[in-house]
Amino acid sequence: MNIDFRYPTLSDLRARARRRLPHFAWEYLDSGTGAETAVRRSRAALDAVMLKPRTLRGAVVPDLTTPLMGRSYDAPFGVSPVGMTGLFWPGSEQMLARMAARRNLPFGLSTVAAAAPEDVAPHMGDQGWFQLYPPEDMEQNYDLLRRAKAAGFHTLILTVDVPGNSRRERSRRSGLQTPPRLTPRIAAQCALRPAWSLATLRGGMPRVRALERYNEGTRAGQIGLGRHRAPDPDFLARIRDAWDGPMVAKGVLLPDEALMLRDKGIDAIWVSNHGGRQFDAAPGSATALPAIRAALGPDVPVIYDGAVASGLDVLRAIALGADMVMLGRGWLWGTGALGERGADHVAHILAEDMKSAMVQMAITRPEEVRELLWGE
Ligand SMILES: Cc1cc2nc3c(=O)[nH]c(=O)nc-3n(C[C@H](O)[C@H](O)[C@H](O)COP(=O)(O)O)c2cc1C
Repeated sequence: MNIDFRYPTLSDLRARARRRLPHFAWEYLDSGTGAETAVRRSRAALDAVMLKPRTLRGAVVPDLTTPLMGRSYDAPFGVSPVGMTGLFWPGSEQMLARMAARRNLPFGLSTVAAAAPEDVAPHMGDQGWFQLYPPEDMEQNYDLLRRAKAAGFHTLILTVDVPGNSRRERSRRSGLQTPPRLTPRIAAQCALRPAWSLATLRGGMPRVRALERYNEGTRAGQIGLGRHRAPDPDFLARIRDAWDGPMVAKGVLLPDEALMLRDKGIDAIWVSNHGGRQFDAAPGSATALPAIRAALGPDVPVIYDGAVASGLDVLRAIALGADMVMLGRGWLWGTGALGERGADHVAHILAEDMKSAMVQMAITRPEEVRELLWGE
């Protein structure tokens, strides 16, 4: 059966992924922090964006090509960095890298993914953006940058919204520990998900491979962040000096901070509340976006993520000022549901849904949607 009929939306893939992942892995993927109000706010802020449908304009042929930081992508959406990506389906990092290479989309790899930069390099073509969670030791930071560059990553993402760990209560409640331990409870959850468990057994339990070499003999490499540095302006300046290429600051919600980052040599601002996973009193990402675009003016690229689940959502974020729109969980709903085919299917849904909405508004280019915000 044509998967477009079986899974016409990302929420269909989400439902299947939920049935295929063990409880603890699902909870880690799906949860926010605290009462998860920041997760809901991101969704509500996108839902609130209305756009103008237009009539009597004849046929239009949408063109999704997106220039960004000296490159051209085939569409204005891509892959946000996600820690332990391979936990949601083994090999998800490589699957998403190949999908991004086939479709010419940006591919973000987290420092704490289950695959190291060297592991995904053969799969990602020229699409790689490396996301840095800074280790405490400065030499390790420089080494990570060298390794990412040598592996072919051209764009650096510095995540600035994780000064420390958040509590992620739902993850805790599921029995997931850091480092992950195969307790009887976790084993029982795995037993209920044989396809995931077999695939995971073949590849081995996911580990934070990029950091392993720095943590030999300790357990730190196994866990999410290990000993993590809270970035400050001095650190930012040192990383800016060390990275020869475009650099993006991810996790910005305040206009004055966006301006400060631009003035310190950051090439693009990534508006995000981290999927609602860091600070539950944060605004929805889409709530924060317009003021940041207004402060930066039209020339600084703005990247957006938060609660995007359709091509229409991509257009809504562009209407509020984004140039590129990323998804975190959405891609993992794809690989969790259908493996690599699911990754491609997510991209297919996003592109087709964008085009369908653009035809309703009679626009050929995504950025034209900025003139069609309802109420303006
Ligand atoms: C399971 C999970 C792990 C994440 N790990 C990272 C990470 O390692 N680095 C990072 O910068 N952001 C991380 N994020 C945040 C995402 O990059 C992104 O900002 C967020 O998922 C966007 O919201 P969405 O999932 O609604 O699309 C993670 C998000 C999730 C759901």
